[in-house]
Amino acid sequence: MDSATWDARYAGSELVWSAEPNIWVVAELAERAPAGQALDLATGEGRNAIWLAQRGWQVTGVDFSRAGLDKAARLAAGRAGRAGRAGRAGSVSLDITWVHADLLAYVPEPGRFDLVLVCYLQLVAAERTPIIRAAGAAVGPGGDLLVIGHDLANLEHGVGGPTEPAVLFTPADILADLDGVDAFRVLRADTLHRPVPGSSRDALDAVVHLRRG
Ligand SMILES: C[S@@+](CC[C@H](N)C(=O)[O-])C[C@H]1O[C@@H](n2cnc3c(N)ncnc32)[C@H](O)[C@@H]1O
Repeated sequence: MDSATWDARYAGSELVWSAEPNIWVVAELAERAPAGQALDLATGEGRNAIWLAQRGWQVTGVDFSRAGLDKAARLAAGRAGRAGRAGRAGSVSLDITWVHADLLAYVPEPGRFDLVLVCYLQLVAAERTPIIRAAGAAVGPGGDLLVIGHDLANLEHGVGGPTEPAVLFTPADILADLDGVDAFRVLRADTLHRPVPGSSRDALDAVVHLRRG
């Protein structure tokens, strides 16, 4: 899907995704103390970027859909406002920079980030591999790379998600994408069951969590 197609998908006032962070983002990162700079590639409407910023990360969210980023900025402003009404002292603005860019051309600064997140970016391998490789290179010493997506097994055994096999992946695909995983400790590389409200079947997600050094 190109950016115009994503813009059209994000055009309505309703959120396409939830306002809440992804279940695996929370599961993998809730215990991680905010460590500085986080990069959310394919941020969409910003649900994960906003959750990270609320926890104290300085976040950069990148997407090629202007409509998605506009909704992300509105959601972030609403969240900051709500925090203000709840009576927290001091500034309540969230530290998020929204970047409008195509990930096929965008190269994050190597080694700059303490956390890089790629969540449900479903591209063919020839496009995905350089993006995952650049995402890994952007992680600084001690930092994390978290890649989440619809697993290939979801087609047969899960529910929802893309039906085009070429844009699905396995945890092993993500490890193979990286320009050598030796620089990373593998914290998780699994296919996980995600409960889907209203469905008797779970969705199957590939979740790869790595730490550099
Ligand atoms: C399924 S959404 C996931 C959004 C977000 N990560 C989340 O989990 O809520 C996929 C996102 O990838 C973005 N995307 C797809 N291809 C892209 C590309 N080449 N460059 C930048 N963003 C892209 C789309 O605009 C869309 O917002």
